[in-house]
Formats: sequence, structure tokens, C-alpha cells
Amino acid sequence: MSDSAFTAVAPSAVSPVKPVINRTHLSLFVRDPEASALWFADVLDMQITARGPQWVFLSFGRKHHDLALIRAESGAQQGGLGLQHYGLEIDGDVDELRRLYGMLLTKGVKVVKTTDHKVGFGLYFEDPDGNRFEFFAETITDDAEGRRVLGEHHAPSEPVVLDPLFT
Ligand SMILES: [Fe+2]
Repeated sequence: MSDSAFTAVAPSAVSPVKPVINRTHLSLFVRDPEASALWFADVLDMQITARGPQWVFLSFGRKHHDLALIRAESGAQQGGLGLQHYGLEIDGDVDELRRLYGMLLTKGVKVVKTTDHKVGFGLYFEDPDGNRFEFFAETITDDAEGRRVLGEHHAPSEPVVLDPLFT
């Protein structure tokens, strides 16, 4: 990253190759891929695009997959290492976030917390296996300003009361 506000890390070897990421996808171990796929289709409005004997792939509607659900070994449990949460920036403002809050509650989804990040608001919830997701609504839409504010406030995550909207 060339922005002087960020700490430069010495490269381990000189190379001109740098990753330019177009899109990310997430792959999760889950107890029951088919059951979890129905949950993601319902809660996140995702489409099942492919499946194999031990996995299901889902898309938000554009790419072939944004999420892969892989069958975990039997007896697997959530641990202290690994994914903490996966954040999904929503298309919309805080009122849309509140509507999604209402949707999650209506569907019986476990909502963990709501937070103020100074660059936006976060709404954290869990999938059927306890994997944590976040809907976040940006309140600072300029990316450079967002980086500045987040750094200046030391990446805050303060509890905030968001009232769910039920439409
Ligand atoms: Fe986050």
C-alpha cells in the first residue's frame, strides 16, 4: 500500500508482483452443507450454483460462487482459532441495516451485537454452525476518508443501540 498513513512492511524478497483482488469468496466448514445452504439462501438471499457430495456453492447473484460450504468432520466444534467474522457491506444506509436487523430477528437468526465503527455501523449474527457474519452500513462513503477516520480512531467497535425495523 502506498498511502503514507499506513505502516510499510519490509518485503521478504524483492518482487514486482502484487495481488490485485477483484472479489473475495469465503469457504466454511459446516456440519450439514445442504441444511446450511438453505439457511444462506433464506437469510442472505443467495443462490445455490453448484454442489458436490460434500459441499454446496452459493452466489450473491453475479459470480459463480461467493461462498462454499464444506462438510466438516463429524464432531467438529467452533474453536478459538480461525475465522472471527466475515463482513458484508450492504447496499443501503443505516435504515436498511435496521430493516435487515428486523429480518434477522423475524427469521430467528442469532444476533450477537450492534456496533459503531465511526465509518459505519455493524450488525453481527451467526449462521447455524456459529460462524459469525456482519452486515455493515458505511456512513463515510469516500474510501480515502474512511481509511483516515478508521486509523485516527484506532478501528473502534463501540456498542450502539440500533432499533430493528419490521416492515
Ligand atoms: Fe467487520
